[in-house]
Amino acid sequence: MRSRTPNEEELLLRGTRDHYEDAALYDFEYEDRGVDIVWYRRLAARLGVKQRILELGAGTGRITVPLLEAGHVVTALDKMPPMLELLQAKAAASPSFGAQLAVVVGDMTALPLADGAFDLVIAPFNALQHLYSYRELLACFCEARRVLAPGGTFAFDVLLPDLDWLTWDPDERHAVTHFKHPTTGEPLVYSTNHTYDAETQVCHVRIYYDDAPRRGRAFKPPPKPRRLVHLAHRQIFPEEIRALIAAAGLELEELSGDFSGMRLRTGVQSQVVRARRPLG
Ligand SMILES: C[S@@+](CC[C@H](N)C(=O)[O-])C[C@H]1O[C@@H](n2cnc3c(N)ncnc32)[C@H](O)[C@@H]1O
Repeated sequence: MRSRTPNEEELLLRGTRDHYEDAALYDFEYEDRGVDIVWYRRLAARLGVKQRILELGAGTGRITVPLLEAGHVVTALDKMPPMLELLQAKAAASPSFGAQLAVVVGDMTALPLADGAFDLVIAPFNALQHLYSYRELLACFCEARRVLAPGGTFAFDVLLPDLDWLTWDPDERHAVTHFKHPTTGEPLVYSTNHTYDAETQVCHVRIYYDDAPRRGRAFKPPPKPRRLVHLAHRQIFPEEIRALIAAAGLELEELSGDFSGMRLRTGVQSQVVRARRPLG
């Protein structure tokens, strides 16, 4: 792997940090996403009652809280304290969650957790795409295997790389949406664009938050955004997933699309993966 320039390092650092500094805004932006919650809940239920679950990149607990509600025991690991603070605030609302939830600030490539401690390890909603090299991904897969009990399951979802979307015009603004900030109430306009670096497989997404125009005026992106969030997602191709699973000593059980068991093909957004730590 060639070494990264200081500018690349800075973009990757911001790419895992900026989007997760405002946890309330994160929850607001993804409040309509539910299909993954149903899938992870069903998976845990199929494996048994009171499963010992480790969630890598647990964030604000979008998936964690439904798993707690279903009676499972969850260790929520994330490297961004603001995200975990919101998760803890949500969990505080239910006294029974106290004994079911452990929160760990940590990195998913080096888990401060005991061998064989979990029945299920999950990494929902593209969390693994914040690992920016094959080496980091393999470290994470090996850690997932180590902390799983024999026969345990590692499940995750990541985007299916879409070369058409990745190579859109990097200057055009997309997904232009007017909204009110959930905490401050300010009227803002959300828009995005992105640049794909084919050499590193990293897509650099820019999320712009601009002041909303006065009533009746059309939105025109100002020369300098009010706030610019950088989000970096490494693209993980299906064959790379298969190679990582084999190299970590796991067995692939499912690699399908969009939480519906669909075959991977153009138009599918998410790759949904289940692998098992062998019994022997
Ligand atoms: C897209 S969010 C997913 C959050 C949550 N699982 C959900 O479904 O809403 C990705 C999360 O991964 C966390 N993250 C990114 N890189 C990480 C790393 N190396 N170790 C631990 N957490 C990481 C981020 O802080 C963020 O909370």
